[in-house]
Amino acid sequence: MTFEIKKFSEGFWEEKEKLPPKKVSKIPLCPKTLFGADKTKPCVQQVYGVSGSGKTVLLNAAATHAVRSKDFSDTWRLVVFDIKHQGYEDLVKNTVSDMEGFLKSLNRNRITVIHPDIEEADEFLDGVINHLFELAQMSDDFSSTLILEESSTFIGSGAWSIPNTIKRFATQGRSLGLSLLLVNQRALSNKWTDTQSTGIVMFRMANPDNELLKKRWGLNPQEIETRLMEKKFSFAYYDLENLSLDFYNPIELRKTPSESKKGSSGTSGP
Ligand SMILES: Nc1ncnc2c1ncn2[C@@H]1O[C@H](COP(=O)(O)OP(=O)(O)OP(=O)(O)O)[C@@H](O)[C@H]1O
Ligand SMILES: [Mg+2]
Repeated sequence: MTFEIKKFSEGFWEEKEKLPPKKVSKIPLCPKTLFGADKTKPCVQQVYGVSGSGKTVLLNAAATHAVRSKDFSDTWRLVVFDIKHQGYEDLVKNTVSDMEGFLKSLNRNRITVIHPDIEEADEFLDGVINHLFELAQMSDDFSSTLILEESSTFIGSGAWSIPNTIKRFATQGRSLGLSLLLVNQRALSNKWTDTQSTGIVMFRMANPDNELLKKRWGLNPQEIETRLMEKKFSFAYYDLENLSLDFYNPIELRKTPSESKKGSSGTSGP
């Protein structure tokens, strides 16, 4: 199956009829900063924090904003490669688990959520990246953001332990409007990905990772830990271009209809 770029603005995509439900009214960190591929800068961002710290909730909510936002054209595609199969399925009518499903969904929707089989994940990821490159080379209008969940499954700690497709994405994606978000529970200690990154979203981190921040970026781990502990699910954004560190309140999730009925106090952090 081929991607029919001509159809981009012909009202083809399923989500026009059924956009994913918006979970928050406002995203503290602009989705454009998170997902936008700036053709003048490296295009990798890293997102890390221990399990349950709020990474997926933030990215999921940012995605529901991005599909409604004029900052993202209708030729932009968000692709979530989620090896854990958890936390993005409500963004789409159907998740996909093979190349055929991926190509179909990419034709019809701006958000595609891939639930790969662990055994075939490496090869599948290569196929996805190669396809995004082909499309970007065919059309100047095409742009895409790839969220790679549990990125340490695919990226080791040395420059040699990164799949060539990811290297290609990180080095050549910028000029083609492709951007990559590496999401992981532990701070990836890979110097190569660090040099390609524009920013880091930090949720509450494991202690050894706090220490790493000092070594790698000269950041004060105590300050960061103290600030992030003050509010559950809060996070920081370290801009590696201008070296600014900003702290953000947790996003405030809307109550689900059943929570509202019960009159419960909801899900927001303290
Ligand atoms: N901003 C928030 N407000 C209220 N609850 C939240 C918020 N963020 C996360 N949670 C709660 O914490 C749970 C775990 O969050 P999330 O799935 O985002 O963690 P994670 O960092 O992606 O973890 P993992 O690394 O295991 O995937 C959510 O299911 C939700 O119940
Ligand atoms: Mg998660």
